[in-house]
Amino acid sequence: MTDVSLIGLGPMGIALARALQPKFTLTLWNRTAERAKPLLNQGTVLAPTALAAVQASPVVLICVADYTASRSILAAPGVVDALRGKVLVQLSTGTPQDARDNWAALGGVAYLDGAMLATPSQIGRPDTPLFISGEERALAACRPVLQAVAGNVQYMGEPIGNAAAWDLATLSCMFGAMSGFFHGVRICESEGLKIDAFSQMIGAISPVLGEMISSEGEAIHASQYGEPESSMATCASSGRLFVKQAREAKLDASFPDYLMGLFERSLEAGFANERLAAMVKVLRQPA
Ligand SMILES: NC(=O)c1ccc[n+]([C@@H]2O[C@H](COP(=O)([O-])OP(=O)(O)OC[C@H]3O[C@@H](n4cnc5c(N)ncnc54)[C@H](OP(=O)(O)O)[C@@H]3O)[C@@H](O)[C@H]2O)c1
Repeated sequence: MTDVSLIGLGPMGIALARALQPKFTLTLWNRTAERAKPLLNQGTVLAPTALAAVQASPVVLICVADYTASRSILAAPGVVDALRGKVLVQLSTGTPQDARDNWAALGGVAYLDGAMLATPSQIGRPDTPLFISGEERALAACRPVLQAVAGNVQYMGEPIGNAAAWDLATLSCMFGAMSGFFHGVRICESEGLKIDAFSQMIGAISPVLGEMISSEGEAIHASQYGEPESSMATCASSGRLFVKQAREAKLDASFPDYLMGLFERSLEAGFANERLAAMVKVLRQPA
């Protein structure tokens, strides 16, 4: 018997194993067994099958490419039965519905669904965030294991899809900002400006950008879209400038065109004199 079993040794699984090794004995399983070799030592063993890995420890972590891969591993004969009385933590990225389907297929196994907001090199740090949802009792049983991989464990409640929803909502914010940033890079390049100076400036003002996002979020929460400091019409004027500049400098205009599309729909819906947060009312319209 070992303390923890870990299924999946991609870049993230390997980082999880390395973060766990100083504190716990491990059983590893990966479809491609060779990937485990550099990790094996006195306290870390390789199981011949996923079933043997599940049988070996009271806490089982699975971190593979997606829920389809995860389902194919957990559906092997005997695996679900072997999980009874243990805690399974799913760390593969998926949707809230993936988490619900996974939970239903496990028929009563103590199951937590998790999402790491980190790259492999950030695993094992005290400030690394890990969203977790599911039964709080199951979390209590494996908290020290999870804290070893990500010190900032954030419990998102019992509904099993919550961690995935928080994860995707946060990633939406990150990739949305990133696509805007990349278009900003193209604006700088078109004017011969230095990209490192631009990116450092964005890093420096990010708390102010965060305040703006929080303020729009509070407006949405309170359904208060009036008395804007900067109206939708004012913001849409900036949107038009992105489109104009992209045409003038012959830049790829996918980001400005997408943004301007949302501004136009917001203006057509009559939100010209409301705050930017009113754009969410456009997005709430049926697709
Ligand atoms: N890397 C990151 O920055 C990051 C950050 C947050 C979350 N995540 C999530 O962590 C999970 C793992 O990511 P990763 O970076 O380690 O790399 P990955 O390429 O997404 O996953 C590789 C792992 O999945 C296994 N796998 C793929 N298809 C399989 C199948 N059909 N049956 C069995 N095993 C299968 C691979 O086994 P083989 O070795 O045999 O191919 C390997 O263990 C993903 O869900 C990812 O979204 C990753």
